[in-house]
Amino acid sequence: MGGAKLFFTVCTSVLIVSLVGKTFSLENLSLTKAEKQKLDQFKDAVSKSNFPAEWMQQELTLVRYLRAREWDVRRAKSMLLETVTWWEENNMKDIHNEDWASIEKDYPLHTDGVDKLGQPVIVLTFSEWDLRQAAVQGGMNRVIRWFIKGFDDVHLKSFEYHKLGKTNGTQWNVISNMDKLSRQQHLCIQCLRFYTELALTFESRYPGAIDKIYVVNAPSIFQVILGLVNPILSKSTLNAMQVLGTNKEEWGRSIYSHFSKDQLPESLGGTRSYSTAWNEIS
Ligand SMILES: *[C@@H]1O[C@H](CO)[C@@H](O)[C@H](O)[C@H]1NC(C)=O
Ligand SMILES: *[C@@H]1O[C@H](CO)[C@@H](O)[C@H](O)[C@H]1NC(C)=O
Repeated sequence: MGGAKLFFTVCTSVLIVSLVGKTFSLENLSLTKAEKQKLDQFKDAVSKSNFPAEWMQQELTLVRYLRAREWDVRRAKSMLLETVTWWEENNMKDIHNEDWASIEKDYPLHTDGVDKLGQPVIVLTFSEWDLRQAAVQGGMNRVIRWFIKGFDDVHLKSFEYHKLGKTNGTQWNVISNMDKLSRQQHLCIQCLRFYTELALTFESRYPGAIDKIYVVNAPSIFQVILGLVNPILSKSTLNAMQVLGTNKEEWGRSIYSHFSKDQLPESLGGTRSYSTAWNEIS
């Protein structure tokens, strides 16, 4: 019994450490002894729960939820159970099978690229997203859901790539090109919900999952968006964010140190030429 327990403890510690190669480790996955105990308590506390998605019960997820709730097991547990409820209420299991044809052309978003560690990335030219039109036509919820689909897609990919040993990291990235961001299309009153809902969804459902967020060609009005999401985002998300101006040489230096050009679209100086359909390269 004692031996079995010791064996189990040793195994789980090794698992957490082996999730990332040491030198490439970005996400801090080492735990203190006290944190390891919290993790075990959390595992016990949710051992009888049914999770609708595999990733929700992974150790990595439990650690992220614990961190998001300052290692308070009770609060981490209610956070995770809220995610389960949210998942079911929003029929998240079908999100990737819905008909997105009418959205993907007007709100282009790509999730097929990876960074130099093999971690997936969401890339979008946000200036092409006419949020005002979505709001006026009653399609804002659909556009928000489309972005959440993007979150979920890279999230699943990050777990999958890791399981297959294709990556040294455990997180994912976002690159948003803000070139020609417009007050009218992106900052209309009904548009603002887009930013706050996405920030809330990310922090409450996918905490700790982002490695880097690059905001490229950010005009000064981007500050309005930043001001909106700033109180919602966690410190680690804010630390992950780099807001880069319109100087291509400058943003290029940051982006290309983290991504090979063959993983980036032409609009970001890369070599991927996309057709209008989801992730399709022409
Ligand atoms: C990583 O996490 C451990 C445990 O919480 C902590 O002791 C250590 O200082 C952290 N390392 C870094 C680089 O943040
Ligand atoms: C992961 O790290 C190893 C060395 O530790 C390296 O050889 C390999 O190319 C890396 N894989 C990726 C996808 O970065």
